[in-house]
Amino acid sequence: MTSSAPHGTYDFVIAANRLPVDQQVQPDGSTAWKTSPGGLVTAMESVMKGREAAWVGWAGVAGEAPEPFDDDTLRLHPVPLSTEEHNEYYEGFSNDTLWPLYHDVIVPPTFHRTWWAAYRRVNERFAEAVCEVAAEGATVWIHDYQLQLVPAMVRDRRPDLRIGWFDHIPFPPVELFAQLPWRAQILRGLLGADFLGFQRADDARNFARSCRAVLGATAKGEKVEWAGSDDGRIGAAPRTVRAAAVPISIDASGFRELADSPAVRERAQAIRASLGDPEVVLLGVDRLDYTKGIRHRLRAIGELLEEGSIAPPQVTFVQVATPSRERVEAYRMLREQIEGTVGRINGDFSHLGDTAVHYLHQSYGREEMAALFQVADVMLVTPLRDGMNLVAKEYVTARHDGKGALVLSEFTGAAEEMRNHVYLCNPHDITGLKETILRAINDNPEEKERRMKALRRRVRTHDVQAWASAFLSALASAPERPTRKEVR
Ligand code: ADP
Ligand code: F6P
Repeated sequence: MTSSAPHGTYDFVIAANRLPVDQQVQPDGSTAWKTSPGGLVTAMESVMKGREAAWVGWAGVAGEAPEPFDDDTLRLHPVPLSTEEHNEYYEGFSNDTLWPLYHDVIVPPTFHRTWWAAYRRVNERFAEAVCEVAAEGATVWIHDYQLQLVPAMVRDRRPDLRIGWFDHIPFPPVELFAQLPWRAQILRGLLGADFLGFQRADDARNFARSCRAVLGATAKGEKVEWAGSDDGRIGAAPRTVRAAAVPISIDASGFRELADSPAVRERAQAIRASLGDPEVVLLGVDRLDYTKGIRHRLRAIGELLEEGSIAPPQVTFVQVATPSRERVEAYRMLREQIEGTVGRINGDFSHLGDTAVHYLHQSYGREEMAALFQVADVMLVTPLRDGMNLVAKEYVTARHDGKGALVLSEFTGAAEEMRNHVYLCNPHDITGLKETILRAINDNPEEKERRMKALRRRVRTHDVQAWASAFLSALASAPERPTRKEVR
């Protein structure tokens, strides 16, 4: 393993599957840049504002990558993916093997050796790009499940770097993780980092247990020690790393300011009026993903309508479903199921001018999202499993009037922090979910305001800047915990 790889000039390097902006091909063949989808970019965009750094990532279209370019203080360094790699690394191994495996096997994961080969190859390319831009002794922050081999691949080339990795999604229990034919390689890849951050303490524990069971590592508290191996493969050196929870959050002050602006307030009023000024607006906002529990939510809404517990025009449900991973079979099926269900519900329960379910399969700007949150009397966040769920945190932050109610699944990372003040639900329990929705609608206003105040305070004091500081301090002092003074 060589440490003579070429050095770059950046002291701080981010590596994530996507760049913060996505290149999109327009119908007329021209290209435009748009903010990339998902919670990772929402969070990291605000953390990186004004920082000098390089961001290594894919530009969102298969084929040749654009040349590196500057976006304010950030150097964006695109990594190319061929069409085949897009199919095998991104849609295949990342989103049809790891994604379902790491989300409680809600749909069965697919294991293909060709996908694994592509995952390795693309991770190698990311590692090379990181080494190319990183200065001697730089800090490298690698993100998420798409890049789990990159920490060891970078360390093998550049032992001078300080390497952190953050897992935006859950880390599965060893009983599920053990299904992965390449489980040992993934763990060795991750152990290349100095510090591994997870959304929940349970995720960090699942990782440590997997290292013990699969690699024979020792795990004491938050420290994992691996004796290494003399097989000469990736990540063979002995390692001591720290794995701990650092829950992600949102740019609370930025989003609060946006939500409080006259334009957003006006837009919220206009949206409410266009819905026919209902007494109660229920809202769901998710990427169209089977982990988000949209089918369970619709089942509960359908039954409440059938029983007459809710009815338009007094109560209406708005579901915003962001298009996501549309060529992966499980996502295609989900879309068909959801759109079929929405059609059936509306056929049965809407009247001319009074729609039971408004379904929007579109992406919106931040202002429109903030306005939608302000219209929602009850926000339905019902994932079957979710690493964190930033929508929950955005919703309470947008409610500057202190009103509204959050129905939140216990299977989200957000529930760890918010469980005492939300209307907590188990989305698998449809009867319980219906009761919880009705409770959130009918609870007295003083109780709702008390809960909302506590939720807003929590997000305000645990925002994305606090998350980034906690992560970077932990990385700087790993494998030891940072002392109180070291926390930036
Ligand atoms: P995930 O990372 O799984 O997509 P999160 O809830 O953590 O889930 O983050 C989703 C992010 O995407 C949030 O910032 C949310 O506001 C944003 N978002 C969700 N749906 C849309 C949409 N239709 N248009 C624009 N932004 C959206
Ligand atoms: O954190 C979850 C996540 O998978 C991110 O890695 C990703 O940016 C986002 O959701 C959206 O998914 P995709 O990049 O596959 O569109």
